[in-house]
Amino acid sequence: MNGNGGLRSFSKIMSPQSKAIVYERHGSPDSVTRVVMLPPVEVRENDVCVKMIAAPINPADINQIEGVYPVRPPLPAVGGQEGVGEVYAVGSRVKSLSPGDFVIPSPILSSEKLGTWQTYVVKEEGVWQKIDKMCPIEYAATIAVNPLTALRMLEDFVLLNSGDSVVQNGATSTVGQCIIQLARLRGISSINIIRDRAGSDEAKEKLKALGANKVFLESQLNVKNVKSLLGNLPEPSLGFNCIGGNAASLVLKNLREGGTMVTYGAMSKKPINVSTTSFVFKDLSLRGFWLQRWTSLDKAKECTKMIDYLIGLVRDGTLKYETELIPFEDFSAALDKALGKRGSHPKQVLRF
Ligand SMILES: NC(=O)c1ccc[n+]([C@@H]2O[C@H](COP(=O)([O-])OP(=O)(O)OC[C@H]3O[C@@H](n4cnc5c(N)ncnc54)[C@H](OP(=O)(O)O)[C@@H]3O)[C@@H](O)[C@H]2O)c1
Repeated sequence: MNGNGGLRSFSKIMSPQSKAIVYERHGSPDSVTRVVMLPPVEVRENDVCVKMIAAPINPADINQIEGVYPVRPPLPAVGGQEGVGEVYAVGSRVKSLSPGDFVIPSPILSSEKLGTWQTYVVKEEGVWQKIDKMCPIEYAATIAVNPLTALRMLEDFVLLNSGDSVVQNGATSTVGQCIIQLARLRGISSINIIRDRAGSDEAKEKLKALGANKVFLESQLNVKNVKSLLGNLPEPSLGFNCIGGNAASLVLKNLREGGTMVTYGAMSKKPINVSTTSFVFKDLSLRGFWLQRWTSLDKAKECTKMIDYLIGLVRDGTLKYETELIPFEDFSAALDKALGKRGSHPKQVLRF
């Protein structure tokens, strides 16, 4: 070991071996992933070796392994794009980080080749963003994608004022839970749509406890006049769709004339059907959001600030979402849950 924690071999700093979830071809993640011991790699002068602490299984990770995500790392690849780790060793020219710091991959610079589902990751200093060690690890591991997406989508499409409302489907998703709370913080009400499934009553109550103003099952919205269900809430001018199919039509149905629906996911893998009425009589607008497009703009400083802001909300109890920490050794059980094979589950977060 050297002073930095890494193993020294012929005066080079080397990382420890890394236990990793690797895929060599695209396909269903439960059939194409396997556990592999990767050999030590050199920690070059500008590199930082990070010992991973926790990493989530996000829908985009699944889509990437399936080969249906627009960004596909060269194969073989290690799964996972997000997570939190502790700096284990640094190269001789690294100035901003030291062993013991907690870091996440910066959403700005983390590449499609990151691979957070492994025990040690070696990447250049600029890939990592130092974060507050007091942030609970399940939040630190998941703060940079879903909460950031919720925050941006509330800010970037329609000017919302206190007293306005938004509508969304997939409200039980991590993004959905964040939208409810970040909207509420701005005095904005949320109308939430969830699918009809076992445990939906409990899911409704949990969303209400987060501050959801209305929560409807999809089947409850099969009425002609949805406005009558809104009580004294104003009709929303902004809607979010992460499901597609009928769930997207229900968002459109709730929007006021001139409203905008932002699509950011496609959990049902079904297309969006838009009625002529939506365009002609309601003049609705359809937009899309992709965090990776947003972060590829010149947003480094803003992004760091937003993540610090979101961590602050977590630390003061203003922002919560459900996660389930699961030991890395139980990856296949966590994957089954993330794939929905065992019903609905909170966000699965691997604990290394
Ligand atoms: N565009 C972007 O930049 C961006 C960024 C972040 C996330 N996303 C997308 O946002 C979506 C949500 O991500 P997340 O990480 O927040 O989700 P998550 O926490 O993993 O939750 C998954 C959500 O999808 C629902 N769901 C799963 N399978 C479904 C199906 N077949 N039909 C209908 N609903 C289904 C679940 O509902 P139940 O609770 O009923 O199981 C739950 O609400 C994903 O599509 C993800 O790729 C996009």
